[in-house]
Amino acid sequence: MVTSHPERFGEAYWTFFAARVAPHLPSRPVMIDVGCGPGLFLQDLGQRYPSATLYGYDVTRAMIAYGQQLSWPGAKPTLMVHDVATQSLPHDAGGVHLVSMSSVLHLVDEPLPVLAEIRRVLTEGGVFLLHDWIRQPLERYLAWRRERLGERAPEYLRRAFRLFPVHNKYTTEDWQWLLAEAGLAIRDQTQLRDSHQIFVTTSAASA
Ligand SMILES: C[S@@+](CC[C@H](N)C(=O)[O-])C[C@H]1O[C@@H](n2cnc3c(N)ncnc32)[C@H](O)[C@@H]1O
Repeated sequence: MVTSHPERFGEAYWTFFAARVAPHLPSRPVMIDVGCGPGLFLQDLGQRYPSATLYGYDVTRAMIAYGQQLSWPGAKPTLMVHDVATQSLPHDAGGVHLVSMSSVLHLVDEPLPVLAEIRRVLTEGGVFLLHDWIRQPLERYLAWRRERLGERAPEYLRRAFRLFPVHNKYTTEDWQWLLAEAGLAIRDQTQLRDSHQIFVTTSAASA
């Protein structure tokens, strides 16, 4: 996650963010990264929005510990061990300008209650930025692991077949359906990599 961060959140990602997400954010936004992992995306946000109030939640203690030892350009974020599948977000309704979830929601057994909770905390016109895996044909997924991740036998196939059902759970259309079902309207979407789709959404009530 740490080594692949610069590739996953590279120039193309931030160009898209600047054009499609930033115009919906105030200059002093409240931002949450749900399933923040080692906190590097929050650190990127902190560099771009030094006046932001940042929160990162992750179920894995080691991830939160990693984020806590990073250096932060603005105010230090609140980083907390938190299971979004079983706990409400510790925020009042309507107070968050950006909720981001990157490569996390596919891991949650029941995504709809999580999406409802995200919608609850968004300000009117606030953005939920979903960035997650989309289904690929098996042959293309195996080639991607081999060529892009450089994985090699013997562990390559064992790992690839274990992860295939995890990473290839939802199609783009499934994500669109889930978002609509949760009352989130899609403002924009793009695919910067074969494996992932990005959706810029807002509460359907404020769309
Ligand atoms: C593939 S990593 C992505 C991390 C980060 N968002 C990124 O893109 O680098 C998935 C993260 O989601 C976290 N996660 C999984 N289930 C979670 C849950 N129910 N609540 C909070 N975090 C969760 C994991 O601990 C892990 O750090």
